[in-house]
Amino acid sequence: MIIDMGIGQEFHNATALSSHVLGVRPVKIQPVSDQQVTRLALPTCQQLPGTLDQAIRNRSSVRDFDRRPISPEQLAQLLFAGFGQLGRRHTVPSAGALYPLELYPVANRVQGVDNGIYHYVPTTGGLEPIVHGQVSGDLAMACLGQEFVADAAVVIAICAHFNKTCRKYGDRGYRYVYMEAGHMSQNIYLAATAMGLGSVAIGAFFDRHVNDLFSLDGVNSAVIYLHAIGYLAGQ
Ligand SMILES: Cc1cc2nc3c(=O)[nH]c(=O)nc-3n(C[C@H](O)[C@H](O)[C@H](O)COP(=O)(O)O)c2cc1C
Repeated sequence: MIIDMGIGQEFHNATALSSHVLGVRPVKIQPVSDQQVTRLALPTCQQLPGTLDQAIRNRSSVRDFDRRPISPEQLAQLLFAGFGQLGRRHTVPSAGALYPLELYPVANRVQGVDNGIYHYVPTTGGLEPIVHGQVSGDLAMACLGQEFVADAAVVIAICAHFNKTCRKYGDRGYRYVYMEAGHMSQNIYLAATAMGLGSVAIGAFFDRHVNDLFSLDGVNSAVIYLHAIGYLAGQ
């Protein structure tokens, strides 16, 4: 069901990027069926190395990734930093504690994790498969052809369910949802930096193409931000 959210939704639609001009076609993806869903456990998170001060000072955007895979421990730490659950709290704040955002890692080179799109389940710290197979090339095309997206070991998509927040706050809720994505992204940047990984936030993408990849309608639920992570080339 599509709920009319007024000017907030209009803003979101009016600022979407469309690929019509470039002639890039949306990708048809076969989502994993309910029968195929086998949840994947990730290792328990340990304390991040280094200090917060070091992570803040060393953080920068990195786009030059090499082919080394990251470990499942590293993936778990990145997801925990972005949206980990600690009792009733999460590692990020949320307006009205409504938590409209979810994380979808796209595995490209993660040891022991088949390539594909997963949904992060904060209550267990595990993953639910959404799409099996190699999608990072399609994702790179959907991100305006930014090639480093295909080279990253993992890309974490931040997906918004707008009406979780707008039900309470109306159109102003859109602002809150975008603000919250910034909290997640910064935590992911800092966790990646602490683990010696490179990362970069991605706001430039063809909305419909990306939402199609994640089987989201783009109205009630949409990808609003992505984050590419991997080992820095030459280090
Ligand atoms: C909202 C937002 C969207 C961004 N989108 C992209 C992007 O699509 N591609 C990219 O390569 N970098 C992107 N960046 C990263 C910026 O280019 C980067 O933060 C900026 O150049 C400053 O460099 P620093 O992060 O190393 O300090 C984005 C950053 C933000 C905050």
